[in-house]
Amino acid sequence: MSIKIAGTGSYIPERVLTNADLEKMVDTNNEWIVTRTGISERHIAAENEVTSDMAAAACRKALEAAGVDASEVGAVIVATCTPDYTFPSTAANVHRKLQMSKAFCFDLSAACCGFLSALETGTSLMVANKKYRYVLVVGAEKLSTIVNWEDRSTCVLFGDGAGAILLENVDDGSDSGLIASDMNTDGNWSDILKLPGGGSVNPASHETVDAKLHAIHMQGQETFKLAVNAMVSACRKVEADAGITISEDIKVVVPHQANIRIIQAVAKRLGITEDQVICNINRYGNTSAASVAIGFDEAVRTGKLQRGDLALLASFGSGLVWGAQLVRY
Ligand code: COA
Repeated sequence: MSIKIAGTGSYIPERVLTNADLEKMVDTNNEWIVTRTGISERHIAAENEVTSDMAAAACRKALEAAGVDASEVGAVIVATCTPDYTFPSTAANVHRKLQMSKAFCFDLSAACCGFLSALETGTSLMVANKKYRYVLVVGAEKLSTIVNWEDRSTCVLFGDGAGAILLENVDDGSDSGLIASDMNTDGNWSDILKLPGGGSVNPASHETVDAKLHAIHMQGQETFKLAVNAMVSACRKVEADAGITISEDIKVVVPHQANIRIIQAVAKRLGITEDQVICNINRYGNTSAASVAIGFDEAVRTGKLQRGDLALLASFGSGLVWGAQLVRY
């Protein structure tokens, strides 16, 4: 059985929010943001543009790239921490917007590690059941709706966007798609990065709104330190399991885009060159579950990743959830 990446797509909303714009909103400056994070601008979805619109746009492009009709898709998994609603799922809204027929659709919650988690889940679904010939794996976020725009320590970091991969079961014995992975969780770190309000712990109330509990709360330095170690160890585990040498065999590494300094520290410890790393954080900021999917699509569309090449995906995020995946395009 072989599951190939039949097509990729991404969608970035039109409106750009620059560091200069943020200087007018909070006590910050372009130099601090660029040197501490690597971000120059991020894109913000229009008010009437919701997560499923961006997810559907990315899916449309992935389907077009593969020449596959939406009616042929067997399942859609949308990784997101900014769903359209708590229920119905964002994936069900994608189903409606793409006028799908038979697709089994659900959302997946693993914050910034959502896309890797969805790729793991989507591939496993296809391995378990041949009726899923085509599966769309999506990361989509409208993080601008959960950012506290008065908190300079977080509001400069995040942006909106979506990315998608269409998986196809080609069943020809070829060595393609997801080849090896190392996915992990440590719930003991669940307090360092969270959205405290709106769930069963702090149901929405006037008080939760006044206390800004419906926005991202983050301990930045702790997250930073854990992120580097976690991504490097997952990449090394995949390297050993797959019997490859990252610095020699991998065409591109697509890391989660949270901070340029995290990306550089990971690259240094993996012994890879700048050319091997997909980095777009300067333009998009951190788009959580969408970031690796967007980076992967860019690698394909810019020709950095060609058919047959190996890519290494790496991510970490709230949970703590982290992982690495070896994929052949
Ligand atoms: N503009 C200007 N100054 C800012 C600022 C901003 N936007 N945000 C914070 N500061 C200030 C702080 O108040 C602090 O000032 P002080 O020394 O007077 O107290 C100073 O800058 C240093 O803050 P610190 O938090 O130590 O900065 P940092 O170098 O750790 O960078 C992050 C902060 C958030 C950029 C960094 O910790 C980070 O990227 N962490 C990982 C976050 C992450 O990956 N999140 C997503 C996970 S999926």
